[in-house]
Amino acid sequence: MADAIVTTAPFVLQLLDQRILPLKVEYIACRTHNDVADAIRTMVVRGAPAIGVSAAYGYALGAHEVTSHPLETLANHMQSVRTTLAATRPTAVNLFWALEAMEKACNALIPTATNTATVANALWQHACQLHQEDIAINRRIGAHGAALLPDHGGVLTHCNAGALATAGYGTALGVIRAAVEQGKRIHVFTDETRPFLQGARLSAFELMEDNIPVTLICDNMAGVVMRQRKVQAIVVGADRIAMNGDTANKIGTYTVAVLARENNIPFYVAAPVSTIDPQAADESDIVIEERDPREVTHCGGVQIAPHNVAVFNPSFDVTPARYISGIITQHGIAKAPFDESLREHLNQSL
Ligand code: MRU
Repeated sequence: MADAIVTTAPFVLQLLDQRILPLKVEYIACRTHNDVADAIRTMVVRGAPAIGVSAAYGYALGAHEVTSHPLETLANHMQSVRTTLAATRPTAVNLFWALEAMEKACNALIPTATNTATVANALWQHACQLHQEDIAINRRIGAHGAALLPDHGGVLTHCNAGALATAGYGTALGVIRAAVEQGKRIHVFTDETRPFLQGARLSAFELMEDNIPVTLICDNMAGVVMRQRKVQAIVVGADRIAMNGDTANKIGTYTVAVLARENNIPFYVAAPVSTIDPQAADESDIVIEERDPREVTHCGGVQIAPHNVAVFNPSFDVTPARYISGIITQHGIAKAPFDESLREHLNQSL
């Protein structure tokens, strides 16, 4: 499986262009923080943890752009780098978490550094560390979550919360991968995930590359799949989890969760602690990104709706905590009441 995020040299970030998968495997080289900001904004890289790791590298590239400038000017420059990267996508909190971590590292480095280049080098190393940590975290999420899946049965997922959406291995797909590695016989049903088709283009591709049995369905088929007992569990990723457990994830996740409750099927969220937003008490504190109407009116570049039709295109929805059977993080499985258990998970990451 091609990695979503690769560094080919210090200060060159290669991002797998996820807009053209699965038909073409091509990387886009990012050498400046603006390159990375463009890649996040235009969905070359997507998925909350992958956005966070990419932004961390973008921040380091921002420092590298000014290595010939006096160290005293660096803090100001880095503020504008942070602002540019933070303005790319509003919902995935991992973006802001990663920028916060990078800024903290930068502020700690400046007082003792001899020049700007030393800080830029150290920031690059810090981004590499976040990159590697994300893979390790996903493996731990997988190990905790695998126990929740049936020994032999179906699991439904929505959007792509796999290796492509992270630094590697995946969150929701990581749980499925871990279950399969343990010998469980899992058949995955992946929703196509209109309008951007992350399920059809990315999850189906990833699972097939790993020889994990997968069936692709249109989003409006999830109800039938559940009613016919083709799946015994649902597992999805998350873009932002509020302290009461309300969870923002790809548009359509809420519908899946309600259907799961109606059909008595457990609905799990898998995400690293960096996806928990301690500033968000509940759904009302989560900003939902709205994207280009063309994503809805066009499919594969072909217009499928009347010219100038009104479009509503929220990229995410929020699943209220009451529909969630458990939130799987690297520290275990948080259960309702989520305020308490998510706080414990956050504390374990301090
Ligand atoms: O718009 P996207 O493709 O960035 O949305 C991605 C999702 O909603 C994922 O499910 C979420 O980020 C979790 S990725 C491990």
